[in-house]
Amino acid sequence: MTLKLDEKKSSDFLEENPDCLCIVDKKGMVLDCNSKTLDLLGYSKNEIIGKSCFDFVAEQDRAIALNRFEEMARRGIGIGTAILIKKRNGTTFHGICKGIKTKDKRTTYLISIKDTTELHDKIHNLADENEMIKSRLQQLAKRSMLTDELIATIAHDLKSSLAIIRGYVDILLAGHMGSLNEDQTERMKIVNSTSEMMMKLAVDLLDLQKLELEKLKMDMQSQSISDTINESILKFEPNAIARGIEITSKIQKDLVCIFDKIRIEQVMMNLLSNAIIHCSKDRGRIDVTLNQEGSMIRISISDNGTGIEEKNLSRVFSKFYQIQNPAENTRGTGLGLSICEGIVKKHGGRIWAESAGLGKGTTFNFLLPLNQY
Ligand SMILES: Nc1ncnc2c1ncn2[C@@H]1O[C@H](COP(=O)(O)OP(=O)(O)OP(=O)(O)O)[C@@H](O)[C@H]1O
Ligand SMILES: [Mg+2]
Repeated sequence: MTLKLDEKKSSDFLEENPDCLCIVDKKGMVLDCNSKTLDLLGYSKNEIIGKSCFDFVAEQDRAIALNRFEEMARRGIGIGTAILIKKRNGTTFHGICKGIKTKDKRTTYLISIKDTTELHDKIHNLADENEMIKSRLQQLAKRSMLTDELIATIAHDLKSSLAIIRGYVDILLAGHMGSLNEDQTERMKIVNSTSEMMMKLAVDLLDLQKLELEKLKMDMQSQSISDTINESILKFEPNAIARGIEITSKIQKDLVCIFDKIRIEQVMMNLLSNAIIHCSKDRGRIDVTLNQEGSMIRISISDNGTGIEEKNLSRVFSKFYQIQNPAENTRGTGLGLSICEGIVKKHGGRIWAESAGLGKGTTFNFLLPLNQY
C-alpha cells in the first residue's frame, strides 16, 4: 500500500492537514514535518530534520516503535501503535502513531502522531472507577449475605419461641391449669390468633429466605396433580361457605406430573385465601380450572372481586407488596405471592395475574411442566 505524494506539493499537503504529520526515510530519519508536529513536540524545524524519529520516542517504548516501523516497511502500512512520546522539554505524553509508505522517487513514509493524553486519562479514570464499583459491589454482597443470615436466624428463633407460647395458650384454654373465666378465655383467644399470625410470618420469612438462597428443598414426586388441586379446593370449601362464597371447579382428570405436593398445596392455599379475601362481598364466586396445555399444566383461580389495576399486575409478586385498598382490611404481610412465584419457578413453571381492571375480578394462573409416564 502506498500514498502518492507530489514532492513539490508535499509541504503544502503537510501544512494543510489538521493532523501532526512528518515524512521519514526508510531508516526513520525525519525528512520533513508540519508546524503542528513542531508545536506538539516543542522543537524548531532545524532541530527535527535529520534526526531519527525514534529519538522522539520514550526509551521504554523504543523497541515497540522499531518493531512496528519494520512491520510497516514490510506491509506498506502501519496500524495505530500506542507509544509514549518525548517532548523537547523532557516530558512525555501518550500518543498513537500510524504510518504509510509514500509513492516517491525513494522510499519514504508518512507518519501521523495523535496526542491521546486526554483519552488515556479517561481510560485510566474509568479503570479506577471500575475498581471502586467492584469493591463496593463486593461490600454490598457481603452485607446482603449478613442480612439474609440475620433474617433467617430471627425468623427461626421467632418460630421456636412462638411454638412455646402457643403450647401454653392451648394448655390454658383447655383448662389444664385451672378453669378460666369468660374474660380470660377471650384474651387467651386473642393471644392465640395473634401468635398464629406471627407464626405464619416467621414461616413465610424462612421460606422466602430459603428460596432466595436456593436452599428450599423440593420433594419432587410423580403424582396426580388433579387430585392435589381437588384436595386443596376441598380444604378451602368450609372457609368459603362460611363467607357465602361459591367455589366451582373444572379439573381435567388423572393428570400426572412431578411436583412437591406440600409446596403446590401452599401455592393453592395462598391463591385461594387471596381470592376469598378479595372476593365480591355479595355473591362471591371463585372458579378453579386445571387443563393440559401442550407440555404444560395450567391451573387458574378466578374470583369476581376487587380486581387489580394493570400497573399492579406484576408488582403483586414483589416482596411485602400490598395494594392499598381502604375498603379492605387485609391482615397479611405481602409475602404470599413472592413465595408462590419462587415455588412455581422451582418447578420450572411460571405464574402471572390477569384482571380486566378494578372491580372486575382477578385470575391467577400458574403453569407446571407436564411429565407423563
Ligand atoms: N385475588 C386478588 N384480588 C385482588 N388483589 C389481590 C388478589 N390476590 C392478591 N392481591 C393483592 O396482592 C397483594 C399481595 O398478595 P400476597 O398474597 O403476596 O400478600 P397478602 O395476601 O397481602 O399477605 P400474605 O403474605 O399473608 O399472603 C395483596 O395484598 C393484594 O393487595
Ligand atoms: Mg396472600
